[in-house]
Amino acid sequence: MATKGDLPVSVGIVGGGQLAHFLCGAARRLGVTSVVLDPKADCPAARSADRVVAGALDDLAAAAELADACDVITFDVETVSPEVLRYLGGRAEDGCVRVAPGAQVMLMLQNKALQKQWLVRQGIATPAFVQLAGGPADHQALVERFGLPLVQKSATGGFDGRGVQIIGDESALVRLWETPSIVEAFVADAQEIAVLVARGLDGALAFYGPIGLDMDPEDNVLTTAVAPAPVSDQVSREARRLAAEVVTGLDTIGLFAVEMFVTPEGRVLVNEVSPRVHNAGHYTLEACETSQFMQHMRAVLGLPLGPSRQRVPAAVMRNLLLRPGLESLCEVGGFDSMDPRTGTAVHWYGKSGGSPGRKMGHVTALGSDPQAAARRADAAVRAVSTIGLEAFA
Ligand SMILES: Nc1ncnc2c1ncn2[C@@H]1O[C@H](COP(=O)(O)OP(=O)(O)OP(=O)(O)O)[C@@H](O)[C@H]1O
Ligand SMILES: [Mg+2]
Repeated sequence: MATKGDLPVSVGIVGGGQLAHFLCGAARRLGVTSVVLDPKADCPAARSADRVVAGALDDLAAAAELADACDVITFDVETVSPEVLRYLGGRAEDGCVRVAPGAQVMLMLQNKALQKQWLVRQGIATPAFVQLAGGPADHQALVERFGLPLVQKSATGGFDGRGVQIIGDESALVRLWETPSIVEAFVADAQEIAVLVARGLDGALAFYGPIGLDMDPEDNVLTTAVAPAPVSDQVSREARRLAAEVVTGLDTIGLFAVEMFVTPEGRVLVNEVSPRVHNAGHYTLEACETSQFMQHMRAVLGLPLGPSRQRVPAAVMRNLLLRPGLESLCEVGGFDSMDPRTGTAVHWYGKSGGSPGRKMGHVTALGSDPQAAARRADAAVRAVSTIGLEAFA
């Protein structure tokens, strides 16, 4: 490992989306070189990485090139092929490179069936589930066990609500996928929250949240995040306790996002764990002493964690999802800006387009209370959508 004293000098990121873009920005501020592996040479992270290795996330030769170039490897996605993860794990065992989070943890968390089994083994509260190996399912048995609605999630490959379907009634049971999946109980009237926890090389933890999450009810994709979440102190404490238990149980390094449901009775259940920085934590760029991206970088590089305190009473993040009207903005390319008069930041990821619902950018607004921040965020979204980006130039 080429190091500057004890410090790694280059970090590799598998996946070059907007999360990697912000991670590269943090690496640069720490004086660390960043190399991104992505199928597309013009991926969102290309504008902030020092180098892009163009290759698929199942391309062993590309993974080898990344490992050869870096002291530490981390991830912006969980959908990395198991072969590549095992290869990187082997390189880590040989002492060639640090892989954080560890390859075994990535392999376990990327499979929703394995992840749920692990949560149950750890004694962490999570909605009841069954694992379906694939092929036709016994509809009757599923309805008897979980009632309706029920939720099906493909075991691998899902993200941003793709790979999740809610089966509302008997007639919809024919839509059940026959690929390997889990089926779980639908948590009715749940409030959704997330806690982000970073774990450093020395085992120290740093927390963000709970953060309140608003999901699009059709697409199950995140639309809005509110920090702090509107929950009681008791729910907040329980959410942090569960998140700490998850991350301590995983026994690896990096920042993790623990998504949870709060039931109307105030029970907190873990929905899923992401081994990476998360859309719910974008607000930390403007609102916290150390952003989630800087915190993850500090953790994987082996630096002491920074303070995670929120500097303002409230922050609201709204995603800019691809829909008619935003397409013309795709031409503009990537930029990040902050309007100091309004306390509103606009981040545009520079993607060239895609299917409806794709995350194209986000805005974050700060305020003295959540309502004030929400009003500012809404105004910024309207400005981006209707006036165009020149309003923020
Ligand atoms: N058991 C459940 N009960 C009620 N709603 C659920 C349940 N499971 C999932 N959902 C809804 O679907 C959304 C997406 O599910 P989940 O987070 O498991 O999948 P995902 O696609 O991996 O998510 P992400 O957007 O974080 O990548 C949840 O945020 C929630 O709104
Ligand atoms: Mg989720």
